[in-house]
Amino acid sequence: MLVQVPSGEVLTFGDDNFIMFEEVGVKEARKAAFVLVAGGLGERLGYKGIKVALPSETTTGTCFLQNYIACILALQEASCKLLEDKYPVEIPFVIMTSDDTHTPTLKLLESNSFFGMKPGQVKLLKQEKVACLDDNDARIALDPNDKYMIQTKPHGHGDVHSLLYNSGLLNIWHDAGLRWVLFFQDTNGLLFKAIPASLGVSATKGYHVNSLAVPRKAKEAIGGITKLTHADGRTMVINVEYNQLDPLLRTTGHSDGDSNCETGYSPFPGNINQLILELGPYIEELNRTHGAIAEFVNPKYKDSSKTSFKSSTRLECMMQDYPKTLPPTARVGFTVMDAWLAYAPVKNNPEDAAKVPKGNPYHSATSGEMAIYRANSLILRKAGVQIADPITTVFNGQEVEVWPRITWKPKWALIFSDVKKKVNKGCSVSQRSTLVINGENIYFGGLSLDGALLINAVSEAEVQVTGSVENKGWAFKPIDFKDNSLPEENRIRGFVIEKLEQLEKNYSEPGQFSLH
Ligand SMILES: *[C@@H]1O[C@H](CO)[C@@H](O)[C@H](O)[C@H]1NC(C)=O
Ligand SMILES: *[C@@H]1O[C@H](CO)[C@@H](O)[C@H](O)[C@H]1NC(C)=O
Repeated sequence: MLVQVPSGEVLTFGDDNFIMFEEVGVKEARKAAFVLVAGGLGERLGYKGIKVALPSETTTGTCFLQNYIACILALQEASCKLLEDKYPVEIPFVIMTSDDTHTPTLKLLESNSFFGMKPGQVKLLKQEKVACLDDNDARIALDPNDKYMIQTKPHGHGDVHSLLYNSGLLNIWHDAGLRWVLFFQDTNGLLFKAIPASLGVSATKGYHVNSLAVPRKAKEAIGGITKLTHADGRTMVINVEYNQLDPLLRTTGHSDGDSNCETGYSPFPGNINQLILELGPYIEELNRTHGAIAEFVNPKYKDSSKTSFKSSTRLECMMQDYPKTLPPTARVGFTVMDAWLAYAPVKNNPEDAAKVPKGNPYHSATSGEMAIYRANSLILRKAGVQIADPITTVFNGQEVEVWPRITWKPKWALIFSDVKKKVNKGCSVSQRSTLVINGENIYFGGLSLDGALLINAVSEAEVQVTGSVENKGWAFKPIDFKDNSLPEENRIRGFVIEKLEQLEKNYSEPGQFSLH
């Protein structure tokens, strides 16, 4: 077998090419459907609830699900506006749940009025568990609490394809003129910063499958996107899990295994498990396979004799293995973006995160939140705002960069050209500042901020912000993650925000206003 680096698009945030792809992506968004795979609980994170209910950042407390829905609604509105569409579309949103997450996900949606979506716009598809196996001979495992029941465990997010196929939604979408299905996972607060440009790449390059990727450090715990060519000539572009990449490379003539090249990164782009599929070819493929995805088994053995399992195992399948069955004519590509812009998943609990090799990302609630502030700060910097340098702080044993706590709602800016229209070079923000932009038409003419400023405005209110704002602001207070008296969502971050003093302005009526 031959292992090569496949071809794809490598983007640089903010350059003309990036801006062009973003604009194409926003136009295409009205022909997209979004699918969130959210069958897992937050146990591994140290959080008992469903992961999509976790705050993506604690400055505003916006949870992941709310953020995703706000982004989809903002894309929907921007896309329709761009095409001066008199008949606005509703972008379909599917959430794959499991027995563990179904009821709490539904409750979260219902108790928050679906975060502004129409209830009919959101569909929940529940995946089922599969039978467990007790030993190498694949004897069926019985439930330890009830020997008349078969023990079951989750089958993996690969189920999403057969669930979609069986739901009949794909044909409905196809008949409605949709062209794209975007799959994403539950806890990446940066994800939608990468969506417009990568959808633009899919549309421009005509990719049937587009995997979002970030530069990958050798041995980093994310899969690598590879091009595999078998001895008989069959090829595929596919994710290889990080623990399999090194042995695969070593047995195929790459004697250094999984190592960095001269760029300081692995030559294989790091898969962030965000797929954009073109709907037509996707339906054709599922008509053939009915959504079946190659399965694997990953038993944890008691010892090196590999005769008995630590606990029962089962077959599993992964969403990103979809391209494995595609014909060689399928156009399979990828889009690489900077990790600071696109990828900050919350997967590791504080103890596991603190053990990550130095220089590799923590992927914890702490780093996930800090990444949002960093990305927003870097985006504003690129747009000309003077943003102070970060300071380094340790929370929960993890050394992180703390940038000004800047957040905005997606309707304020979805793409870089929106940001550029709404800020100018006269603005500055100090490191200890907090800036919450909650409104569509808020323009920053010459703000100098050293403290906390929160602006809430209805879309019909146009607010011009100038002058200087100085107050005690909001500060991070470190907490001990072992302190059981504190809420889990704070403990897994290692800090709480102390709201000392802020300027908060509300504009609830239409009109023109200035804040100075
Ligand atoms: C897939 O199968 C369905 C049902 O049999 C059919 O209506 C549809 O036209 C097929 N689509 C494609 C793209 O082959
Ligand atoms: C602004 O509106 C929010 C939400 O309605 C409210 O909680 C807050 O107290 C208001 N702030 C001011 C300064 O009026």
